[in-house]
Amino acid sequence: MPNVTHLECSLCARRWAANQAHNLCACGGTLYVRYDLPAVKAAWTPEILRSARTDLWRYLPVLPVQHAASIVSLGEGMTPLIRAHRLGSAIGAQQLWVKDEGLNPTASFKARGMTTAITMARELGIRKIAIPSAGNAASAAAAYAAAGGIEAHIFMPKDVPQANYIECKTLGAHVTLVDGLISDCARIVGERKESEGWFDMSTLKEPYRVEGKKTMGYEVAEQFHWELPDAIFYPTGGGVGLIGMWKAFDELEQLGWIGGKRPKMIAVQAEGCQPIVRAFEQNASHSEFWQNASTAAAGLRVPKPLGDVLILNILRASAGTAIAVSDEEILAGGRELAAREGVFAAPEGAACIPAARKLLANGFLSPTDRIVLYNTGSGLKYLDAYATRTQA
Ligand SMILES: Cc1ncc(COP(=O)(O)O)c(C=O)c1O
Ligand SMILES: [Zn+2]
Repeated sequence: MPNVTHLECSLCARRWAANQAHNLCACGGTLYVRYDLPAVKAAWTPEILRSARTDLWRYLPVLPVQHAASIVSLGEGMTPLIRAHRLGSAIGAQQLWVKDEGLNPTASFKARGMTTAITMARELGIRKIAIPSAGNAASAAAAYAAAGGIEAHIFMPKDVPQANYIECKTLGAHVTLVDGLISDCARIVGERKESEGWFDMSTLKEPYRVEGKKTMGYEVAEQFHWELPDAIFYPTGGGVGLIGMWKAFDELEQLGWIGGKRPKMIAVQAEGCQPIVRAFEQNASHSEFWQNASTAAAGLRVPKPLGDVLILNILRASAGTAIAVSDEEILAGGRELAAREGVFAAPEGAACIPAARKLLANGFLSPTDRIVLYNTGSGLKYLDAYATRTQA
């Protein structure tokens, strides 16, 4: 791999070889891809990006693939950063943007992680993958697996949004609906992967989804001309987007493209499943399994994120916070964003609106802060959730 030097455990810093298939470190930690950043710095500049391809593979020098020909791409990334004047006025923010990830292939930011993970799976000779998912990661896995000629085995809760189920089936994946949560789906993948010969693509259990997700951080930096915003709201289930963006900012600083200032990273969760909020408030280093998790924001229904320690460290290191909002607030936020700005958001993304309103009202953020809300998916995939509430 041109610029990849090794894989490194995010918890114990143990090194692993880069050119082999890996899941977790022996200690249970997620593996991060490490690059020869001084070499990248010597050869790569923001000016080069002006003529680079217009998807996330424009950041190729800091992406893991060895041969550009292996890339499995459907045109993901480089999503718009939309200035939200009317919503900003309504919630008391003079400088508000929405990063609209709903425009990605399969209509969510999960495409970013899957383009890199499936590309690497192909490069490492993996033929079959399995993934537990709350919905959108499954859709993206199914699409990229189809495009890459890899067999996909998908396990989702049986009450997953219908769009995700239909999408996965249509994309040719083997789909199993499970009477339980994503944690039960993960257990089944864990139990069967060896006998079935599946590579486990669970969130943070392989090193490459984070690499795709981190491009949300590269992009926001580029779109702000290398001056990061003051606050980033991110709907947090497994937390990969937060973890990825934080890694991106660290790499960008080492490249000399940004300074040491970081946005306040703000994890938004649903009241019905808020393990990170609870742990943050209790000043704990890790989260506890959230019992009876329930929310219309399906992607936030992650009772115990594997990356909880990393997420909590990021929230603290960035002077950010964690905040929970109710499903009523989420869907009202989705309608408000849609009606004021023309962006029909997934409930997960919509959760950022009430969260931002609260943190502006209580003075945690100031009206002049430059604030970015991540809308991680399209509302069109959640017609069932919006329809229920609209009729009520
Ligand atoms: C639309 C949407 N937003 C946010 C999330 C949470 O993502 P993360 O695991 O990066 O916290 C998901 C996960 O399924 C999702 O589908
Ligand atoms: Zn380790």
